[in-house]
Amino acid sequence: MLDKLTYAGRKENFQDVKDDPGFEFVHGAIEDSNAVAEALEDGIDAIVNFAAETHVDRSIAEPDAFVRTHALGTYVLLEAAREREMRYVQVSTDEVYGSIDEGTFTEESPLRPSSPYSATKTGADLLVQSYFHTYELPASIVRGSNNYGPYQYPEKLIPLMVLNALHGDKLPVYGDGMQVRNWIHATDFARAIGHVLAHGKAGEVYNAGGPDEQANIEVVRRIIELTDASEDQIEYVKDRPGHDRRYSLSSEKVRALGWAPRVRFEDGLAETVAWYRENVWWWKPIRSGDYRAYYERQYGKTLS
Ligand code: TYD
Repeated sequence: MLDKLTYAGRKENFQDVKDDPGFEFVHGAIEDSNAVAEALEDGIDAIVNFAAETHVDRSIAEPDAFVRTHALGTYVLLEAAREREMRYVQVSTDEVYGSIDEGTFTEESPLRPSSPYSATKTGADLLVQSYFHTYELPASIVRGSNNYGPYQYPEKLIPLMVLNALHGDKLPVYGDGMQVRNWIHATDFARAIGHVLAHGKAGEVYNAGGPDEQANIEVVRRIIELTDASEDQIEYVKDRPGHDRRYSLSSEKVRALGWAPRVRFEDGLAETVAWYRENVWWWKPIRSGDYRAYYERQYGKTLS
């Protein structure tokens, strides 16, 4: 595993697998070809590019890291795969299709990204496809919907709301809270990526969406119930600029390969809340570190 360990990448996130046979960690960036060469030294037969700057709000405030990681980083990994004739899988996002009010996106839907995050992810997808068409690189793309689960950095909706709820802080809902997201548990998405790596066709794109969709305000209300917090903590705040209304993915193509999500959102959310309750050691250093400054910049408020 090659990881730059930026603000959201922490050794604590892989402590459970670090002693597994076959696991090795190289500290470095995907846009650094020397680090990539070191990570590919022995016994590696495929590259899966999970590396991304993922938070839309950060891409609005500071887009430069998004261009570097998604455009340059993907290019460096593709070159490494081409040189070594390796299988390649790009981990992508439903956000490349933009927003959809009704119905669901298929792999044939037009690409209409709307934030610097999704636009740079779309650029990376197109570069991957060009390496298949031009150099016959055996590359596939998996586009996931909104991930959630343990170890998620608390800038994202679910862990942010869980930790704020537990601390008695305000729960900042953007706009009217009626934006809809298609939630997939991280373990289901990980299985989809493994499935495409093993069974997906080169040159193909596969959508992997979760089994349930929910409006943000409903997610927040459920978190309030699960944490015994108060509805008074909800605070409607200024909407995100260019906020996508709804994401929805059709996953028929990857289902036809034999994958299906296993975790329903209701169960996965309850388990995730329990995990954050129990794993104070994991989030305490985050909530008392740089994250506080990020929160103040983003929300104009101090965390308790
Ligand atoms: P997020 O977790 O940032 O994922 P994405 O933007 O990739 O979908 O946000 C999920 C939804 O929750 C999105 O519609 C924005 C909304 N949201 C809030 O209402 N308040 C918040 O503080 C955050 C972080 C997100």
